[in-house]
Amino acid sequence: MIPWELLGKALVPGNSGELRLYRRGREFSIRVNGCELMNSRAHGSEDALAELACARIADRPRPRVLIGGLGMGYTLASALHRLGASARVVVAELVPAVVDWNRGPLADLAGHPLQDTRVTVREIDVARILETEHQAYDAILLDVDNGPDGLTRESNNWLYSRIGLDAAFAALRPAGVLAVWAASHNQSFSRRLKLAGFEVTEVHARARGPHGGAHHTIWLAVRGS
Ligand SMILES: C[S@@+](CC[C@H](N)C(=O)[O-])C[C@H]1O[C@@H](n2cnc3c(N)ncnc32)[C@H](O)[C@@H]1O
Repeated sequence: MIPWELLGKALVPGNSGELRLYRRGREFSIRVNGCELMNSRAHGSEDALAELACARIADRPRPRVLIGGLGMGYTLASALHRLGASARVVVAELVPAVVDWNRGPLADLAGHPLQDTRVTVREIDVARILETEHQAYDAILLDVDNGPDGLTRESNNWLYSRIGLDAAFAALRPAGVLAVWAASHNQSFSRRLKLAGFEVTEVHARARGPHGGAHHTIWLAVRGS
């Protein structure tokens, strides 16, 4: 068995612990406070998050997409694959080291999506963007954590709260799509989305896509016109 090799570590802003990047052969793992946040061998549901949301808005003129959480870049690569040349994608990543890792040891995994000229990376809490931008995006994709039952940082709960959902609603253009990834189903989150005025569809996706793996949840929440 090949041992895991530690490639890097970084503090999560807001005193929320430490992220660590490991490699074992061709497999990569990002862990937060010892728990695995992401593994390069399981990104089927991260791909699906972008595929499902971008399919609904790709035909709009000059679509704008916001992705919260870069991770290993799979959601970003999947969005770029689904969108045309006129699209623009903003990626908000809280931990600057994650951006460095995606320009370094992780760059090959998803095919160098940060080199795509349609992409702007911002090293910022995605919540700050939601609070300040209005009717700016056709789709907002959130995969910043474990979903509504957080793992990385308690302050991410704001994103899934009624106030956070109101902010996401306001940041979307009419008929825009908020897509949210979660490790597990959460009925009260579905209810909150509906109370915030979204039309909600819940989709189940497998961690390894057609090869199975854990069951994850994706909410597709459409803002009325
Ligand atoms: C599970 S990973 C995302 C995986 C990604 N979907 C992919 O395909 O590789 C979560 C990422 O969100 C980042 N993150 C956590 N909280 C955040 C926040 N509030 N704003 C922006 N990024 C955040 C983490 O540092 C981590 O890079």
